[in-house]
Amino acid sequence: MPSITFEGQDREVLPGETVLDCLLRSGVAVPHSCKAGACQSCLMKAEANVGLESAQAGLKDTLRAQGYFLACSLRPSADVAVSLPGGEVRTAARITRLDSLNETVLRVRLRVEEPFPYYPGQFLSLVRSDGLARSYSLASLPHESDLELHVRRIPGGAMSEWLHSDSPEGETVWLQGPAGNCFYVPGSPEEPLLLVGTGTGLAPLYGIARDALAQGHTGPIWMFHGALTPAGLYLTRELQEMSARHANLHYVRAALRDGGVDGVEDGELDACIRARLPKLAGFKAYVCGDPALVNSLRKKLFLAGIASKAIYADAFLPSSSPSPLPQSAACT
Ligand SMILES: Cc1cc2nc3c(=O)[nH]c(=O)nc-3n(C[C@H](O)[C@H](O)[C@H](O)COP(=O)(O)OP(=O)(O)OC[C@H]3O[C@@H](n4cnc5c(N)ncnc54)[C@H](O)[C@@H]3O)c2cc1C
Ligand code: FES
Repeated sequence: MPSITFEGQDREVLPGETVLDCLLRSGVAVPHSCKAGACQSCLMKAEANVGLESAQAGLKDTLRAQGYFLACSLRPSADVAVSLPGGEVRTAARITRLDSLNETVLRVRLRVEEPFPYYPGQFLSLVRSDGLARSYSLASLPHESDLELHVRRIPGGAMSEWLHSDSPEGETVWLQGPAGNCFYVPGSPEEPLLLVGTGTGLAPLYGIARDALAQGHTGPIWMFHGALTPAGLYLTRELQEMSARHANLHYVRAALRDGGVDGVEDGELDACIRARLPKLAGFKAYVCGDPALVNSLRKKLFLAGIASKAIYADAFLPSSSPSPLPQSAACT
């Protein structure tokens, strides 16, 4: 049976177990969230390459080369010594401002003292001082003084309730990342873009649309924002003003329930898209938010003519173990 060495102690791996599960089982508090290889919050470093490739999907080449891997994706077949990432992949940030965008969505502004290069629309792992980690997408532009996240309150949610209820303004947190492929790539300014999101899936799309416009994108940019009810929509005035300033930005809101609100379409997002854009061949699409909707839209957009390589999606997978971590996971 292979073993994992962490801080000088060996732990035997059970058959089929991941590095993350083995360490959690033996009481090591490794920051993590989705346990599905999507959020990158369980980043760890191996001292030697013991077949890490399968657990390095989505990581930057520089991280791969240094032996970083996702602990939830590695089922070791040989002994491996591992460690938690340190300051080389974590950036300290201060929570500078919290504003409500609607009843359940909070805008979180963060200031970093060191450079934190990113593309608007990518996501980061926000790691609290006790090691609790969750992923959030970047709505800000790199030249803005603060990073901007949109966080939906999940009842009983460890991170979102903390941000919403405890007003942690001024607190220091740690950022890991950025990661993900949902961002604007300049070079084809006339290409039609389709941005579709539900709930806080708007955060990356807001960043991508503003980035595209700032970089002189001239092709049509269609932004569809959906929610369960009209009350779940937000940044409406900002987006209406943006679309008034930019003739190529088309902004559509839709809600599944409580219809009859002026300017809000009733019904499913894909029906709204089909009604306005019956032909989608040649579009580049970005789809973010609720995992079930992201997966279903991805298929529908492909069937409607968008090449699969032109569909960029971030499914906001929930955590698999919501409780805060014990103090031993604390960031230093
Ligand atoms: C790539 C990526 C990007 C993300 N970007 C954003 C973002 O920009 N904004 C944002 O608000 N969130 C985003 N998320 C989700 C975020 O990481 C957290 O999962 C979310 O904030 C809940 O964390 P929590 O600690 O508050 O709740 P937890 O303590 O993790 O969960 C508490 C309980 O609620 C359940 N739960 C968690 N999320 C949901 C949900 N959405 N619907 C129903 N039940 C749920 C859990 O399964 C658990 O039972 C993203 C996730 C990923 C993977
Ligand atoms: S990628 Fe491992 S916990 Fe999310």
